[in-house]
Amino acid sequence: MAHEVRGVVARGKGQPVSLETIVVPDPGPGEALVAVQACGVCHTDLHYREGGINDDFPFLLGHEAAGVVEAVGEGVTDVAPGDFVILNWRAVCGQCRACLRGRPQYCFATHNATQKMTLADGTPLSPALGIGAFADKTLVAAGQCTKVDPSASPVAVGLLGCGIMAGLGAAINTGGVTRGDSVAVIGCGGVGDAAVAGAHLAGATTIIAVDVDDTKLGWARRFGATHTVNSRESDPVEAIRELTGGFGADVVIEAVGRPETYKQAFYARDLAGTVVLVGVPTPEMQLDLPLLDVFGRGGSLKSSWYGDCLPSRDFPMLVSLYQQGRLDLDAFVTETIALEDVEAAFEKMHHGEVLRSVVVL
Ligand SMILES: NC(=O)c1ccc[n+]([C@@H]2O[C@H](COP(=O)([O-])OP(=O)(O)OC[C@H]3O[C@@H](n4cnc5c(N)ncnc54)[C@H](O)[C@@H]3O)[C@@H](O)[C@H]2O)c1
Ligand SMILES: [Zn+2]
Ligand SMILES: [Zn+2]
Repeated sequence: MAHEVRGVVARGKGQPVSLETIVVPDPGPGEALVAVQACGVCHTDLHYREGGINDDFPFLLGHEAAGVVEAVGEGVTDVAPGDFVILNWRAVCGQCRACLRGRPQYCFATHNATQKMTLADGTPLSPALGIGAFADKTLVAAGQCTKVDPSASPVAVGLLGCGIMAGLGAAINTGGVTRGDSVAVIGCGGVGDAAVAGAHLAGATTIIAVDVDDTKLGWARRFGATHTVNSRESDPVEAIRELTGGFGADVVIEAVGRPETYKQAFYARDLAGTVVLVGVPTPEMQLDLPLLDVFGRGGSLKSSWYGDCLPSRDFPMLVSLYQQGRLDLDAFVTETIALEDVEAAFEKMHHGEVLRSVVVL
């Protein structure tokens, strides 16, 4: 049996998204059908709509979600109908080179559903990040479902499915922030603020938030920023050096995804410090740095894909911290909206008015 439900579809480059009837197949072997309860609006959804990821239109958008498993296909044993799950885009395959080397957080062959969800006329949809959760129901690979404590709020913990995990993990996993570190975060949207929260959780003593928007800087303080810098008003590299005894930060996290902010991150860290790029650049962007500076400043230049998270390890742990009041996921939710409001939410995101708009179903 197939299910006809509502879904938010991007039909073409730059076109406003539309709410359409989509057809979701019953789960086949290794698949799970999930009734979506909440799904955050992430910048990456907007990148898809703008054709910035690839040209496989039409897309079924949405990928930062929590819901309840409704049915599972043959051979699925890890999750069962009724389980409360966060959807992930890293369902480790267990067989690729990364997995076999014991580094499943880099899995190169992450699983997605085999069957296609379609438009009513049968046109296959490309689900964003292999999820497609701006829909009443979605079909994913069972490994994309991470079971967590059902008493947690889906609106809050669904955010761990993408951006907030990416930011937390950029600090905790990729950046390896530890007690006593100084950390700077450039770009304090949902991802950057999550990096601030991650640095705070990990015990950083100086946490400098940098943005071009004072409202964002105010929000960053709520997540643990000890200092803020408006980089429209002052040079962020100078400011970060000044706030760190003239040295620069141990770890600088770039959460914008632009060459100029990457350069700021590069020069704002202490010698032998770490830069973590978590912002996603677009294909035409180029970086130009003196190679001697790359050599002379030492340290490590890293990228963070999904916060180097391992969903089965990290999601339940972060849900526990949330429930203990040590990780304020609720503070990321600026507004809850309906499926028909996704286009308006893109507009608000574009104007920097929200940290996260979360669709509630
Ligand atoms: N690496 C990953 O796995 C991953 C996962 C999710 C999202 N992302 C990416 O992370 C980035 C941030 O996502 P988001 O949801 O927080 O977006 P967002 O639009 O909410 O936040 C971006 C922030 O950067 C600020 N900004 C813009 N230009 C700036 C500049 N020149 N200097 C300083 N600050 C500036 C904005 O004011 C805003 O606060 C995006 O590129 C997104 O695609 C990466
Ligand atoms: Zn793998
Ligand atoms: Zn995302």
